[in-house]
Amino acid sequence: MDQKIESSELNTGKNVRTKTSSVLIFFVNGKKVIDANPDPECTLLTYLRDKLYLCGTKLGCGEGGCGACTVMISRIDRNTNEIRHLAVNACLTPVCAMHGYAVTTVEGIGSTRTRLHPVQERIAKAHGSQCGFCTPGIVMSMYALLRSSPQPTMKDLEIAFQGNLCRCTGYRPILEGYKTFTKEFSCAMGDKCCKMNGNGDGNGNSCNGNSSNNVDDKLFEKSKFLPFDPSQEPIFPPELQLNTEFDSNSIVFKSPRVSWYRPVELEELLQIKAQNPNAKLVVGNTEVGVEVKFKHLLYPVLINPSKVKQLNEIKEQEDSIYFGASVSLMDIQNYLQDLITKLPEYQTRFFKCTVEMLHYFAGKQIRNVASLGGNIMTGSPISDMNPILTAGTVKMLVAGMVDGQLKTRYVHMGSGFFTGYRKNVIAPHEVLIGIYFPKTLPNQYVIAFKQARRRDDDIAIVNSAINVFFKPNTNIVDQIFMAFGGMAPTTILAPRTSEMMVKQNWDHVLVERVTESLCAELPLEPSAPGGMIAYRRSLVVSLFYKSYLVISQKLVSAGIIPYNSISDEECSGAESFHTPILKSAQLFERVSSEQSICDPIGRPKVHAAAMKQATGEAMYCDDIPRMENELYLALVLSTKAHAKILSIDATEALAMDGVHAFYSSNDISDNENVVGHVIRDETIFAIDKVYTGGQVIGAIVADNQKLAREAAKLVQIDYEDILPRIITIEQAIEHESYFPNYPQILEKGDVDQAFKNCAHIYEGTCRVGAQEHFYLETHAAIAVTRDTDEIEIFSSTQHPSGIQKLISQVLSVPAHRVVCRVKRLGGGFGGKETRSTSVAVPVALACYRLRRPVRCMLDRDEDMMITGTRHPFLFKYKIGFTNEGLITACYIECYANAGWSMDVSFAVLEHAMDHFENCYRIPNIKVVGWLCKTNTPSNTAFRGFGAPQGMFAGEHMIRDVARILGKDYVDIMKLNFYETGDITHYNQKLDTLQINRCFDECLEQSNFYEKRKKIQEFNKSNRWRKRGISIVPTKYGISFGIPHINQAGCLINIYADGSVLLAHGGVEIGQGLHTKMIQCTAKALGIPADFIHISEFATDKVPNATPTAASVSSDLNGMAIIDACDKLNTRLKTIKEALPTATWKEWINKAYFDRISLSATGFYSTPDIHYDPVRQPNARKYNYFTNGVGVTVVEIDCLTGDHQVWSTDIVMDLGSSINPAIDIGQIEGAYMQGYGLFTLEELIYSPQGILLSRGPSTYKIAGFGNIPAEFNVSLLTGAPNPRAVYSSKAVGEPPLFIGAAAYFAIKNAISHARTERGLSTDFTLNAPATAAKIRMACEDNFTKLIDEPLPGTYTPWNVEL
Ligand SMILES: Cc1cc2nc3c(=O)[nH]c(=O)nc-3n(C[C@H](O)[C@H](O)[C@H](O)COP(=O)(O)OP(=O)(O)OC[C@H]3O[C@@H](n4cnc5c(N)ncnc54)[C@H](O)[C@@H]3O)c2cc1C
Ligand code: FES
Ligand code: FES
Repeated sequence: MDQKIESSELNTGKNVRTKTSSVLIFFVNGKKVIDANPDPECTLLTYLRDKLYLCGTKLGCGEGGCGACTVMISRIDRNTNEIRHLAVNACLTPVCAMHGYAVTTVEGIGSTRTRLHPVQERIAKAHGSQCGFCTPGIVMSMYALLRSSPQPTMKDLEIAFQGNLCRCTGYRPILEGYKTFTKEFSCAMGDKCCKMNGNGDGNGNSCNGNSSNNVDDKLFEKSKFLPFDPSQEPIFPPELQLNTEFDSNSIVFKSPRVSWYRPVELEELLQIKAQNPNAKLVVGNTEVGVEVKFKHLLYPVLINPSKVKQLNEIKEQEDSIYFGASVSLMDIQNYLQDLITKLPEYQTRFFKCTVEMLHYFAGKQIRNVASLGGNIMTGSPISDMNPILTAGTVKMLVAGMVDGQLKTRYVHMGSGFFTGYRKNVIAPHEVLIGIYFPKTLPNQYVIAFKQARRRDDDIAIVNSAINVFFKPNTNIVDQIFMAFGGMAPTTILAPRTSEMMVKQNWDHVLVERVTESLCAELPLEPSAPGGMIAYRRSLVVSLFYKSYLVISQKLVSAGIIPYNSISDEECSGAESFHTPILKSAQLFERVSSEQSICDPIGRPKVHAAAMKQATGEAMYCDDIPRMENELYLALVLSTKAHAKILSIDATEALAMDGVHAFYSSNDISDNENVVGHVIRDETIFAIDKVYTGGQVIGAIVADNQKLAREAAKLVQIDYEDILPRIITIEQAIEHESYFPNYPQILEKGDVDQAFKNCAHIYEGTCRVGAQEHFYLETHAAIAVTRDTDEIEIFSSTQHPSGIQKLISQVLSVPAHRVVCRVKRLGGGFGGKETRSTSVAVPVALACYRLRRPVRCMLDRDEDMMITGTRHPFLFKYKIGFTNEGLITACYIECYANAGWSMDVSFAVLEHAMDHFENCYRIPNIKVVGWLCKTNTPSNTAFRGFGAPQGMFAGEHMIRDVARILGKDYVDIMKLNFYETGDITHYNQKLDTLQINRCFDECLEQSNFYEKRKKIQEFNKSNRWRKRGISIVPTKYGISFGIPHINQAGCLINIYADGSVLLAHGGVEIGQGLHTKMIQCTAKALGIPADFIHISEFATDKVPNATPTAASVSSDLNGMAIIDACDKLNTRLKTIKEALPTATWKEWINKAYFDRISLSATGFYSTPDIHYDPVRQPNARKYNYFTNGVGVTVVEIDCLTGDHQVWSTDIVMDLGSSINPAIDIGQIEGAYMQGYGLFTLEELIYSPQGILLSRGPSTYKIAGFGNIPAEFNVSLLTGAPNPRAVYSSKAVGEPPLFIGAAAYFAIKNAISHARTERGLSTDFTLNAPATAAKIRMACEDNFTKLIDEPLPGTYTPWNVEL
């Protein structure tokens, strides 16, 4: 379409004459900040943390994708005099944009020293904070919501948290805590409401409670929450309210590199743009900010148009609504939503589809600031608004200054607007002023769809918008515009197909023609960026079809076509999923009424640091204040997966002012450089060759972070590629690229003979992909020298003594001169067990050499590139079984992608080989395992440590047997379950197994059989929606695979005032270890828990500590604590006997004066677990097993592959839980992580071995919207475990595999769809079962239209590891 140029409606005739300021003034937590030289490149987050020392606000990603940096900004709207409060991402907000605003951070709303704000208190007390790194961001999202809406709805809560991620909690407890603020929660009964007493679910669903005599269902006491009184909130600073100059003055801030302009008049804006055509307008900075950070672009002129009226106003007109280009997406959404309720329905169809699309556009923090103009002008091919605006051919007003004259014109979105990748017809000197959203006509319908990897806060894979005009009162197409995103370098229309549709009836015949035509008109090259070629092509057709159904339904409602034009079954294709309101229950063993009130064991105690985490006072590594002479270290990373290093040249970098050193392999001996926690096969700095992308080649040390990073980019490295470059498991098999000594073989019985005797044999394969740890806090370290030959390191590691050992090696100093300290971690999940070396050791080296403190915290993209993931596995298996379904023989090959170095991969593979049979007794087994050596980062420990991957294979086998025999797999499971006394294939006799109990209780709790029946009925009446259900058991062996590390130590110091300082061998990574250890100490010493404090882990308090891993930290350290307490109790015995009525403080005081040592160490090593087939055949390999069972119900959309988890029920055997709140939190968090592993999280690698998914924008972990609509967890009662501290069981890793219940439920749903279409139910579905894989497995007439190119005839954009 030609761009129409019409007359201007904008000439203001004004001469630009405004007052200009150059001093940045804003308020933070009520205090005025004045900065005469603000840096336009500085973000609000950096300013808060580095200049104002407000470290409560965290950096999790730096790209607006995690919400850890959420703060509230408040500003006055001069037109309405209203004060507006918005949650924003401080990591993308330029500090210069804060002029005249008030910023509130987590520190500004409450503190443990004064009073917690109710939003802080409730998240803490509801157990919604584990590692706590996400907590301040979540607190601030909630706070900002309450400031605008003191009694929000559950829907408001859903929207408020779309932009926040938490990797630990599984979200349920956060929502439970916060739903107490909502309208839905309040009840006419007030404080007497049973919901306030913890018995209802808060949705008014049940007030009966589930508790019985020995079962409790109250994890926290809602009635004791501080009341929320909105009138007590801090006021907006009067100075900002009264002084209009904050808004009316023009602003110019200049740094040597960048100038920031904030004009207030349109002419002024256009003049600046005319003089600087390459200047960037910065509105939300959600595109520019990301470009600057990740593409390292420099824009010397930035213009903030937030005060230019024409770009910020909203006007209703006769036939349209005018939105200034800078109006935020949230304001557009709210305005249109309001109009929808006021205008006749037919006029609002364009608005409705915009509002629905905006709901899934980014998160709330982004929508609060991002502009429509920014979305249009960026012109991303996957923009969500551009398809709607293009299909709507909306009119836009553009203006520019030419020869001092203001020129305006109208342009239309539609054909010809985008001229290339991120290019359009608006000239560089011009500015987009506003967009006209059309009111629709009675015979016009507008429908849009978006399909993304994750529904909330994700960019589209493909999106579509259809704008159709019918001849009045008919179903004859008069005109149609169909726009698609994700199918070309720009948003594109399908003009040929549209033309063909004109004058045609809107019916099934047309659908057939359109789908074929769209396939031909919108092709994709097999190597097109973004990959998923067949899926994306099928989405074009599917999204059209969904739109067809929706419009048909509307035509039916309008009486234009008969009601039976589309069947009820078909209608299921029209709908999309919407996040349901959470229901949940948590059941656990009630503490005996005889238990002393001071004995905290078995009670749901709040995480010891939860309050500090909720107020932002809890310090993580990078929160340690900067030291006067501190330097910053930036790593230089390999950009090649396998190459010879020809040269390294740091001259240019070292020539920069403020750069102090560059270290590489040339600076340390090979003996110092070659390291490894178990096997020394890695380097601190690459020597001669690189074996993976992201391998550390060197390190730059400079005055500050910015300089260090810039200098690191200037280090020149010349490479020569080495082939072959092995990236995938299949490539490793082809090239036989395995670590030495593999395959490993584990055998039991006579497999060959058993295969000969069995009735059935089946051979299958299954594959599970990598998983990024995505702890919210990236790796960090700070090193400080003490004296000339001592060094202290603060590291975000799960293995401080390992870090101590390696630093000692690299610096050639004995370990007693290296102290490693860890206060807490912002999550670890195994990813900080060995991989912390890459940061901690270079930092220590630089510090030791330069004799100055050195710091480094990885950016999210660096962290993801360097630190490795969960091991992808490929399994090939052959099973033999009887007619009844009893498995008698199994031969299985396990291939693990270990990456380029060994790390702990040998143990991960062994764990997978040990666990593959899950809960099933297989008398004849041969397991063969290969560790594939590839040119990818070294894979490492990750919650579950290979077992979930192994059990995934076992669960496939059970279902294969049932499918082949046509039996119920639940019966096949029961038939094959282990029984007490059985012996595993690694020769361990199974004593008290609780699998049957967990299984039966879970079947009952979940109403499994009833649900399954209902699902069948649902599936019969829904053609495009299918539900599936699955039950998954788990058996997880507890203990370290490396025998000698099954040990722990502790140190307990009692001070003369009676306070107790505990140091033990574990690190607090959010799992609640310190809380449980305080509970153990309190019980063992018989004192209240609040007498006890744990400050940190330090290698000078507990030597040679085992890594905090393998779920055993409570077991090991808890027993060591009991040992130390026993010693102290023995020493205090005579005093207690002599003074039986005295208090603890008095006893301690007496002991001090009696010169009794009040310090004791404790030690524990797990007995009888050195299993060795030759030397110790009777010892155990695992100390004991943790069992659990989960049932999940899902629904899939067969047209798009999207899914919704409707319910999950878990029953877990944790012995006698030390702390049910923490344990249930671990179960829920692990389930959600497992759910991510098996359904959502997909690492994207190029065929050249370079990681393409380097942040939350491309790597999707589960968000709030992904949790099961109903999430029930119960702990088995009356099942004490004799083999661990206070009869408890380990919890961290065992529940993770239950997340696979969602995968198998999805597979079950797909099977229903395939059965209906007469297809085989024996089909491949590699994990994760992403939307793309689900859709392509639901084969139908649409997918048949897409011809897939033959593998090997093209280079794909990405490969599966
Ligand atoms: C975490 C995250 C999630 C996201 N999710 C989505 C999503 O789901 N869907 C989606 O489509 N996008 C998404 N985006 C992209 C982005 O948020 C949008 O494109 C947003 O609309 C950009 O607006 P902005 O005001 O922040 O742009 P800015 O970054 O401020 O500006 C972007 C560009 O537009 C230009 N510009 C802005 N206004 C004008 C004007 N009036 N005239 C001329 N040029 C102008 C600027 O010069 C600049 O080049 C996401 C981004 C992030 C960081
Ligand atoms: S750090 Fe800002 S959103 Fe992640
Ligand atoms: S508690 Fe949310 S990320 Fe750890």
